[in-house]
Amino acid sequence: MINSSQEMAPLLEVNGLSVDYGIKGVSSRAIDTISFPLRAGEAVGLVGESGSGKTTTAMAIAGLLSPNARVSGGEVRYRGNRLPIDDDAAMRPHRWSETSVVFQGAMNALNPVHRVMKQIAEPCMLKLGMSRGEATARARELLELVGIPADRGAAYPHELSGGMRQRVMIAMALACRPSIIIGDEPTTALDVITQAQILKLLGELRSQLSLALILITHDLSVVAECCDRVMIMYAGRIIEDGTVADIFAKPKHPYTRLLIESIPNPANGKKMMRPIPGDPPNLSNRPTGCAFHPRCPSAMGVCATEFPGLVKFGRGRVACHLLGSLTEEDKVEVHA
Ligand SMILES: Nc1ncnc2c1ncn2[C@@H]1O[C@H](COP(=O)(O)OP(=O)(O)OP(=O)(O)O)[C@@H](O)[C@H]1O
Ligand code: SF4
Ligand SMILES: [Mg+2]
Repeated sequence: MINSSQEMAPLLEVNGLSVDYGIKGVSSRAIDTISFPLRAGEAVGLVGESGSGKTTTAMAIAGLLSPNARVSGGEVRYRGNRLPIDDDAAMRPHRWSETSVVFQGAMNALNPVHRVMKQIAEPCMLKLGMSRGEATARARELLELVGIPADRGAAYPHELSGGMRQRVMIAMALACRPSIIIGDEPTTALDVITQAQILKLLGELRSQLSLALILITHDLSVVAECCDRVMIMYAGRIIEDGTVADIFAKPKHPYTRLLIESIPNPANGKKMMRPIPGDPPNLSNRPTGCAFHPRCPSAMGVCATEFPGLVKFGRGRVACHLLGSLTEEDKVEVHA
C-alpha cells in the first residue's frame, strides 16, 4: 500500500551516493556524493567525458555494479523505499520490472545464438509469469511498438541492422513494463540518421508509456533534443545541473560552457567537435580542490586548494568558486 508521503516523493531519489572500485587492493572513488531526484515521466540527461562516472551511476541505480565495486555511501530510493543496490539477488524483483537499462552496443548485449523473439519473450515468462504463448504475443507487440515488423522476431541478432538491434534492446528493456529506463549511450555505435531515429523512438515511448528516462551520453546536443533536465558530471561528481533551457542559455560552470562550445554548429561554420584541452583526471590521481582546475580557463588560486561544494543556484545547482560573488541568500548548500 502506498502512503501519502510515498506519493509525494520523486519516483527515484539518489542521495549522497558514492561508489569505490577496488583494484589490486587499492580502492578508488568513481562517484562521490551524487544526489538527484527523478520524477515520474521526466527525462534527465547525464553528460560528461569518459571516466566521469556516468555508467557507474547508472549501474548503481540498477543494482548492476561489478563485483569489485562497493557502495561506500548514500542510498537510492524508489517510490520512497530504499533499494538494496549492493545486493544483486535482492535487487532482482526491482530490476527490469521497475528500472531497465539499455546498454551501448546491442550486439554484445544480445545472445547471438537465440532468435530475438525468444530473447524478448524470456523476461516476460520469468518476470511476469506469462505462458510461452502469452510471452510470444507480448514480444510481437513489443517489436511492433519499437518499429520492427513482428515477423522479424524470427531473426538472429546478426541478421538485423545495428539500429534494429538497438530497437530490440529497447523492446527487451520495456518487456516488464518498467517506470524508469536508463539509456547508457544507447545510440553511440550508430550512424547519425539511425541515432536520430532511436532518440525519436525513445522520446515517443516515453510519452506513450509515461516513462522516466535517464539518458547517458558524451554529447550535450543529444540531451538538448530529448531531455527536460541535464546533469553534468566531472571526475565522479555532479558539477552543474538544471533545465536544458537554462543550461544551454546560461551555463554557469566553466566546464559546462566548454562542453557547449565543443558542439559542432554548422550555422556559424563550426563543423567539427572541438575537444576540451587537457585530459580528464584519473581516479588514482584526482587533483586537489576543484578537480577541473588544471584545465579550467577561469581557475583562481583558491581552486587548487579548496573544494567547491554543489550549491543551489536559481533552478539548478553549480559547484564552482566563481559563484563566490553571490550573496549568501542566493546560495543553499545541497550536500557536503
Ligand atoms: N569495474 C571497474 N573496475 C575498476 N575501475 C572501474 C570499473 N568500472 C569503471 N571504473 C573506473 O571508474 C571511473 C568511472 O567509470 P565509468 O565507466 O562510470 O565512466 P563513464 O563516465 O561511464 O565513462 P565512459 O564515457 O567512458 O563510458 C573510471 O575511472 C573508470 O576507469
Ligand atoms: S572552481 Fe575554479 S577551477 Fe573549478 S571550475 Fe570554478 S573557476 Fe574553474
Ligand atoms: Mg560509460
